[in-house]
Amino acid sequence: MSNQQLQLPLNYSVLIQKDGTKTGIDSEFPINELDRLAHRESFNKHLYRPNTYLHKWWARRSGVTFRYILKQLSDDPDKRDYYAAGGLENKLILDPMMGGGTTVHEAIRLGASVIGYDLDPIPVLQAKASLTPVPLREKQEIFNKLVSCLQNSLEKLFHTQCPICRANSETQFMLYGLRKICKCGEALVVDSLRVREETNGIYTYIDPCNQQLYRAQTPINIGNKKPYIYDKNVVECPICEAPWKELRELSFTERYRPVLISGKCLQHGAFLKQIDEHDLTQIQLATEYVKDNVNLPVDILGIPEGPKSNDLLKRGIKSYAELFTARQLIYIAECKAFLVSLPEQHRLWLSLLVSTSLEFNSLLCGYKGTDRNRAGAIRHVFSHHAYSFPHTALENNPLFSGNTSGTIGLLFQDRIQNAALWAQNPIERKFHKGSWLKTTIYGESDTGIPGISIDALRATPSTFCVQQQDSSRMHLPDNSVDHVVTDPPYYDSVQYSDLAYFFRVWLRWFLPNSADWDYDVKNSAVAESEQDGEKYQKVMTAIWQECHRVLIKPDGRLIFTFHHWKPEAWAYLTMSLKNAGFRLLAHYVVQSENPISVHIRQLNALKHDAILVLHSTTGFYNTRTFSGKITSKDSYNFCDQCAAFLGYCLDIEADNKQIMKLWQEILGDS
Ligand SMILES: C[S@@+](CC[C@H](N)C(=O)[O-])C[C@H]1O[C@@H](n2cnc3c(N)ncnc32)[C@H](O)[C@@H]1O
Repeated sequence: MSNQQLQLPLNYSVLIQKDGTKTGIDSEFPINELDRLAHRESFNKHLYRPNTYLHKWWARRSGVTFRYILKQLSDDPDKRDYYAAGGLENKLILDPMMGGGTTVHEAIRLGASVIGYDLDPIPVLQAKASLTPVPLREKQEIFNKLVSCLQNSLEKLFHTQCPICRANSETQFMLYGLRKICKCGEALVVDSLRVREETNGIYTYIDPCNQQLYRAQTPINIGNKKPYIYDKNVVECPICEAPWKELRELSFTERYRPVLISGKCLQHGAFLKQIDEHDLTQIQLATEYVKDNVNLPVDILGIPEGPKSNDLLKRGIKSYAELFTARQLIYIAECKAFLVSLPEQHRLWLSLLVSTSLEFNSLLCGYKGTDRNRAGAIRHVFSHHAYSFPHTALENNPLFSGNTSGTIGLLFQDRIQNAALWAQNPIERKFHKGSWLKTTIYGESDTGIPGISIDALRATPSTFCVQQQDSSRMHLPDNSVDHVVTDPPYYDSVQYSDLAYFFRVWLRWFLPNSADWDYDVKNSAVAESEQDGEKYQKVMTAIWQECHRVLIKPDGRLIFTFHHWKPEAWAYLTMSLKNAGFRLLAHYVVQSENPISVHIRQLNALKHDAILVLHSTTGFYNTRTFSGKITSKDSYNFCDQCAAFLGYCLDIEADNKQIMKLWQEILGDS
């Protein structure tokens, strides 16, 4: 391979395939239609696919995109219409890295039978719970029983007193400030002394000297009074000029001190108030109750080393129990006590619901309720694909009757009730005469029949088999699945297995026999560090080799989404596909990320996915040419050109070393 070839202007060509049956997606794909829908869906994916979002998982792909992909695999061209029901009744689809289950859910709706694997148990348990039909009436009865149990044991500990009539009132959430010390003593630091915009230009502020709340257009001038509470932008003590230090010798929740409460009085409605003695007593009572009555599974709550878990360990946090206040630990323990009494099919979905509620009910939660048109006040634990440590921490009341964000009531409504109703008659959006319409796809259902054997899966449409498995070794016969449709980890983008510990430790307590909780996270196809590129390549190669083995050839397609800025990410992916004997037939580029979502805002993040359509090389025939450099910083063009270059690299004779060199040359130091 000579360098001259690379200096020519950027273009590439493809020759049509000679053997095997063409599938629609080999040469055409309704990109514009899809992009318009995907753009809309990317802003609130869970609203478009409520039955796929029972439990938190990271980096989910859009349901619309995978429905469009799967639709193109129908043998009946009429059934390739996005709004036509079904179309894959005679197909067996495999997703070896199913994550949040987007492929599995979309394929089931289209009548396909599906096999879904994931190394981590959460994706598997979630798919099982959301695809297995269980009468909603029964779920509602079970849920009501849980809520009344929690009300008996926990509700009173979230009681506060109305600042007007002193009557017992409900706490919606409590805000804490982070304790910090300097030479002249201890102070509290919060994200902002401005708590909330009340009416136009009038805000509720915290008085930094006496912690009282006041309303004003601008913060009061405290003159030379010594404040006790500071805004986080004050990085050192203005009196002794010493930098603040956190109290890392204390357990995590003790590093915070309560400052104010948002609550509701039956007579006087919603209120914000400063913490008082009664509220501190409530916290003390809960702390004593935990000490005397709550037996936590301490042996499984230890925080392991890991790319993201190290951020906890670095701050001296050793156990996941430390991330929850006493009232939150009582909530978890009371739920556990209730769950063990349930039959399997109810214990599963409710355990997942309680587990996912912890993302809104931990002291790692922040506060985002300042703006007047605030959606919900809670910044949940994983608003970024990592741990963040707020100055203003928020302790939510999971039982708050207002069903506000993070309450178990709202989660049940959204992720169980609405999800089940939607699954019975899935709804799609349609752009018609200038406006968006909701259209029900009658004849489809987002639930299926559990099946174990290939025969059972082949015998009945919409049969599913989801298992916890390392897909580099799949227990499937050769030539047994029609297509592989998946979405692998994007190199080092998300540390799934490591982040999922936050939930896994509690789910293990709720469902001890439902999964291999001690699986080796090292088998995850993720580059945990700069040095892990080879590992990513090796695990991905083994997974693709297994896909190659089980795909029915020559018609079987491997189709997946991918994007990354780094040349090594594309190089290792290319090596893994090449070593597994795949070649690129076609690629398309679609919108995938919501540009304003917190975890990519301000980052120069790619907002598109390349959809790569590959097939096994037996009877292969085409050559590509590729010249020039990929210089575009435009998300769409970058993904398009990288996908084309990947196709080129799969065609040419080149070993892993040459592949890495080619990508480093073509992407330069991008
Ligand atoms: C990008 S996610 C899939 C997301 C999914 N498409 C969705 O929309 O929710 C990739 C998944 O691959 C799984 N995974 C990583 N290594 C694996 C392995 N060796 N075997 C099986 N699954 C693996 C991860 O746990 C993760 O859930």
